[in-house]
Amino acid sequence: TLVRISDDALARACGADALAAAFAQAGAMVERVSSWGMHWLEPLVEIEGQGFGPATVADVPAILQGSSVKAIGRIADHPFIAGQQRLTFARAGRTRPLSLEDYAATGGWLGLERARAIGPARVIADVIASGLRGRGGAGFPAGIKWQTVANAPGTRKYVVCNADEGDSGTFADRMLMEGDPFAIIEGMAIAAHAVGAQHGYIYVRSEYPDAIRKLEAAIALAAPVIAPFVMEVRAGAGAYVCGEETALLNSLEGKRGEVRAKPPLPALEGLFGCPTAINNVLTLTAVPHILAEGGAEEYARLGIDRSRGTKPIQLAGNIRHGGLYETAFGITLRELVYDIGGGTASGRPVKAVQVGGPLGAYIPPDQFDLPFDYEAYAAADALIGHGGIVVFDDTADMAGMARFALQFCAAESCGKCTPCRVGAVRGVELIDRIRSEATNGGRMRDAVEALPQMHNAPRDGRSRADQIALLTDLCDTMKYGSLCALGGFTPYPVMSALRHWPDDFGHAVEQPE
Ligand code: NAI
Ligand code: SF4
Repeated sequence: TLVRISDDALARACGADALAAAFAQAGAMVERVSSWGMHWLEPLVEIEGQGFGPATVADVPAILQGSSVKAIGRIADHPFIAGQQRLTFARAGRTRPLSLEDYAATGGWLGLERARAIGPARVIADVIASGLRGRGGAGFPAGIKWQTVANAPGTRKYVVCNADEGDSGTFADRMLMEGDPFAIIEGMAIAAHAVGAQHGYIYVRSEYPDAIRKLEAAIALAAPVIAPFVMEVRAGAGAYVCGEETALLNSLEGKRGEVRAKPPLPALEGLFGCPTAINNVLTLTAVPHILAEGGAEEYARLGIDRSRGTKPIQLAGNIRHGGLYETAFGITLRELVYDIGGGTASGRPVKAVQVGGPLGAYIPPDQFDLPFDYEAYAAADALIGHGGIVVFDDTADMAGMARFALQFCAAESCGKCTPCRVGAVRGVELIDRIRSEATNGGRMRDAVEALPQMHNAPRDGRSRADQIALLTDLCDTMKYGSLCALGGFTPYPVMSALRHWPDDFGHAVEQPE
């Protein structure tokens, strides 16, 4: 019997290693593969030719004797998988991550071979034609970025893969690094060929030890295939801001992870002052498919408006069916949260979803018809970001979440610019004042003023309406005056929480302009 069990970190955290050992001990042949991305079913077992489902060590003898109690049928036919359009995640669940044989047998290296055959200019033309935009969050056209690097003067150029994946509720980069590392390597080799780079770095957050280990092993195995291009892995040191491209470059250079002013763009003056193509894991991993014969046209056919192709969406938080869902742009939150995600894990009504990480807006259920599209989200004062969706039920305190966003910004700020460094701290204090007014109706004002040490936001004589106006003003200053997205996007969760759930900030909160 051939049994497949994922060796992805999430599956391992759910007991996949012990399960694999139990199957092996019972005489089965065990293959460790990538994860299908159905996280609520991990550790998930697949038995060749039979399908199967979630299992524990205690289930092993019964499963091997033919019990179908926990069977869910063929895994690939499960509605969660069958409903997806997987291009970036085409191999998820199906191949052994470090098997060059499996990679080549599933179309691996075809994109790189064609890229080498058609030459850099046509590679860039194909990426532009595919409509691929930066999947890290900003959505800048990947082909235009590469063209800028290719046209930049200088002979020393770099390709950098941003694998810092700091957004809450996101794990797509991690799944690819652990599950399909050769695809990232192939994407980087194609990028290097297109822009004329000789050297590449993957900057991985240190919280991903399995990903670092697998990437290093995969790079060693693939070195002859990608030569003369050379790649290395670099581990970060746990700063959210190092996911910002210029802070990341500073960190790679061994400097403090502080944001650099743009211009100059990294495409012109990036790593060690040289032209650098810096792309997210998901952007680079979409490239081998796009470069394979007919891939660009297929990619461009999917999606809506200016958001072309597919987006790996990560369903997390209080959701029944959490996991990785790759589909063409245009899908609505309603479909994602209810039809695919099955609603909350707690069974309570959905109150909000946060899309796009800790700096993303909170979206209420009456806006769940919003289509997944960069421009539609921007028009709704929200962002798609890295495609993380975190679900909250009706017990969530949205004023508390707004406070958390500012607190997070204060903790993670690199300190370079004032709106973020000072604004985030003042914002936490303002929310504390608003909430203290809301909970005690102002009656405790004197007591709070008398005991400032019990309350980090002493009263300043302003009314609650004034405090709200001040918070709104502060958010505007942070949004328009910050140097990078950390300070600039923190107002999204704060203002969306205030706009949609004013009651959580106290009953008589006036709507901000
Ligand atoms: P940005 O809009 O400044 O730049 C986007 C990219 O395009 C950058 O690589 C930039 O160098 C490049 N670019 C811009 N103009 C160019 C030109 N004319 N030629 C060549 N390249 C050009 O956005 P930024 O600050 O890099 O990223 C912000 C995004 O990061 C947000 O949307 C947020 O969602 C996302 N984000 C993602 C996280 C994650 O974990 N993946 C964490 C935090 C934020
Ligand atoms: Fe640094 Fe914050 Fe300014 Fe970004 S917005 S440069 S993280 S201080």
